[in-house]
Amino acid sequence: MWHQNILETLGNTPLVKLNNVTQGLKCTVLGKVEYFNPGNSVKDRIAVEMINEAERLGKLKPGGTIIEGTSGNTGFGLALVAVVRGYRCICTITDKQSQEKIDILRSLGAEVIVCPTNVEPEDPQSYYSVAKRLATEIPNSFYPNQYDNLANRQAHYRTTGPEIWEQTEGKITHYVAGMGTCGTITGTSTYLKEKNPNIVTIGVDTYGSLFQKLHETGEIDMNEVYPYATEGIGEDFVPQNLDLKVVDRIIKVTDKDAAIMTRKLARLEGLFVGWSCGSAMHAALEYARSLGPKDVMVVILPDHGTRYLAKVYNDQWMKDRGYLDAGALVTAQEILHRKQQSAPLLQLDASELVARAIEIMRKNDISQVPVYQNGEIVGSLSESAVLNRLLDDPSVKEARVGDIMADPFPFVLPTTRIDVISKMISKEVPAVIVQKTDGTQDIITKSDLISVLAG
Ligand SMILES: Cc1ncc(COP(=O)(O)O)c(C=O)c1O
Repeated sequence: MWHQNILETLGNTPLVKLNNVTQGLKCTVLGKVEYFNPGNSVKDRIAVEMINEAERLGKLKPGGTIIEGTSGNTGFGLALVAVVRGYRCICTITDKQSQEKIDILRSLGAEVIVCPTNVEPEDPQSYYSVAKRLATEIPNSFYPNQYDNLANRQAHYRTTGPEIWEQTEGKITHYVAGMGTCGTITGTSTYLKEKNPNIVTIGVDTYGSLFQKLHETGEIDMNEVYPYATEGIGEDFVPQNLDLKVVDRIIKVTDKDAAIMTRKLARLEGLFVGWSCGSAMHAALEYARSLGPKDVMVVILPDHGTRYLAKVYNDQWMKDRGYLDAGALVTAQEILHRKQQSAPLLQLDASELVARAIEIMRKNDISQVPVYQNGEIVGSLSESAVLNRLLDDPSVKEARVGDIMADPFPFVLPTTRIDVISKMISKEVPAVIVQKTDGTQDIITKSDLISVLAG
């Protein structure tokens, strides 16, 4: 069995459980990983739907030209359709978008026109206006207009919604999606709420966009609108694809929180996703704190990380914006993930002979170890302390560990930040114990901290 062309691989993207960024939460959080689509984004769905409909209505004829204003992803989808079906494709894009996005569009044979970001949508230079103008000038051209073309939300009503319903076997209780053209949130939520009106839909907006205020007050407040950096979500006007009736709550996320969460998704979950995925997940996890064990939350992860290599995934770019301060990024959980060793935490019993303890520490190449009694941590032993005692009194070798041990290492949570941990660690306290949510423990030593801080 094979596909007739690449467009047939569209949809049926996997739903994947998040296991690490969700620590401490009671509910199940699932990511709908849209980079499995042929153009690596959720927008392939609407590109095919809008073009199918235009062909059906005779708005696009063989040999025609597709012209769209796009933040990139819709352009990739349209460029793919254009390649497979023999159309010319022109994309207008803002100068805010990643260079990678422009390069990918050109690699797919699309013509790209870069327009200024910080102009009103009605300004003749805006990427909306340029796309509209070209569509009137170029004969046999079609301007899909993803913002107001209702085939956009229809694509999600027809595909994304049913997929999520079937993949969760109807167990979904909360649906989370970013809001740009609002096709994804409106189409999917409409379908899901038809299936079960109790499903709660949470929209994700950026600071600098008007959706949240509009939802809360009904007012289009242009004071809410200012430049922001996150790509793909947030708007300075209301797209026709938005139906606020199917959105229960809107959460705003900063560029920085979104960027930090994006990197966490890559490093802690192996989900190499785009920037707006970080926005969606940041909002989702904030909301999920109030949910219980029966709740099943589905979060749309719209695109792939390759599009943001020069931005969110670039350390220098992150540092230049103050996004990469160690405290915000690294938690005990992340330090543990970065540690190479995967062996369980070494346990030394208080009744063990000191001579044997030294042997165990040497064999395992460790300098400090927690001491246990009846499964509880009762103290700690460090190599340097033992050596000092031995220098004073060689017979200490025959003593029990419990007789010479020091106080237990302090406990921290997986969410404790690196700046807090580094204040706890000192010459006298060479390590901390991480009390994990599954009941087990792990250790972070001074050398683990140094290797994380040294990068
Ligand atoms: C990366 C990314 N995330 C999220 C969205 C938002 O999806 P929608 O336009 O369906 O609201 C878009 C849309 O442009 C996007 O490109």
